[in-house]
Amino acid sequence: RITQLQAVEILDSRARPTLAVALTTGDGTRVRAGVPSGASTGSREAVELRDGDPARYSGQGVLEGAGNVNGEIARALTGRSFASATDIDRALIELDGTDTKSRLGANAVTGVSLAAWRAEAAVAGRELWQLLARAAGTSPRLPVPHFNVVNGGVHAANSLDFQEFMLAPLGAPSLSEAVRAGAEVYARLKARLSADGHATGLGDEGGFAPALDRPEDVLRILTEAITDTGRTPGREGVAIALDPAASELRGPDGRYRLAGDQLSGDQLIDRYEAITEHYPVWSIEDGLAEDDWDGWVRLTARLGDRVQVMGDDIFVTNPAVIAEAVGRKVANSALIKVNQIGTVTETLDAMRTCRESGYTQMVSHRSGETEDTFIADLAVGTGCGQFKSGAPARGERVAKYNRLLEIAHAHPRLPFGLAAG
Ligand code: PGA
Ligand code: ZN
Repeated sequence: RITQLQAVEILDSRARPTLAVALTTGDGTRVRAGVPSGASTGSREAVELRDGDPARYSGQGVLEGAGNVNGEIARALTGRSFASATDIDRALIELDGTDTKSRLGANAVTGVSLAAWRAEAAVAGRELWQLLARAAGTSPRLPVPHFNVVNGGVHAANSLDFQEFMLAPLGAPSLSEAVRAGAEVYARLKARLSADGHATGLGDEGGFAPALDRPEDVLRILTEAITDTGRTPGREGVAIALDPAASELRGPDGRYRLAGDQLSGDQLIDRYEAITEHYPVWSIEDGLAEDDWDGWVRLTARLGDRVQVMGDDIFVTNPAVIAEAVGRKVANSALIKVNQIGTVTETLDAMRTCRESGYTQMVSHRSGETEDTFIADLAVGTGCGQFKSGAPARGERVAKYNRLLEIAHAHPRLPFGLAAG
């Protein structure tokens, strides 16, 4: 039973307002959740409410969303008994009444949903990941962390077009060794960038933001930094995952801007093919724009048997969109973000759709984050095998990896690595 629900405006990692939701239950349990926010958002994402008052935070305030939690949502939920957090999610979906959570705000709904799941786990005396595994019917597993160590696109003020270059320690024997690999390569990468005269300031997700244009130049330095630590570049050691976030690269003429060139979708696929032949890239997320479904079919046919072809903006954690993609052979993997769809229950539905279709999946943070670590438990509980939360640096990124480490240390028998199949 919920006795109190309260939202306040706090700051995210980009100095923009976001919501913190506190939920109290009848037995005195009190939990809190922080809401993340993206910058390279998909157009079909659930819609976060921003106040639009130019006098506060350039219109980015979230007092309206907080008011919806403290007013309408609190009135609808407090005093009522719910058998589970899923029932609370269903009540939220019904109360909002829109497909995109645009009436109450996806930020308000997400905050309440995260808090509800955390409260159910606390009341039951379970770890959050254990509750999520039970609800999803999955076997818990520690995921392979994907450390975003070079930032570009809309996450950094450099000239690099691809948004994310991630280290994937697929060959690590354990989570703690994977974290060590990420941190050690990060340190070597910093040394190499400095030696080459690059600034080592950080982008939004804690990766370096060097003044490099060509993705191949970043991939070369990254591969060298992996080798510097004595590790093998590739799936046996440390592989690389890319998120070009190509929706952001496509101009109104339908061509993709890359390092001064303007490429057709097929030319960009050619470029990816060459990249995967020369560098240890194992996964490409959002390789084409979210509305280029025919291009995605060709991308998947060309590269899908060699690399993970992952959809983020194109799928927006929406079970119906993923189901449509499966039917059209679009991608073979999905990125999972709770606030793209708005509730944990719908997120678990999207993850079930992936599992049943043989699509791999990766649980993800947003570029605007708080210290909340819910997504680490979500990745472990659902056993999805892959996780990204930015660089092994910056508190809001490291908080998630540290939560994974905490779970790993407390439960040494949990398996680690990519999910089978
Ligand atoms: P976003 O980017 O959180 O800014 O949307 C993350 C991603 O594209 O994976
Ligand atoms: Zn992405």
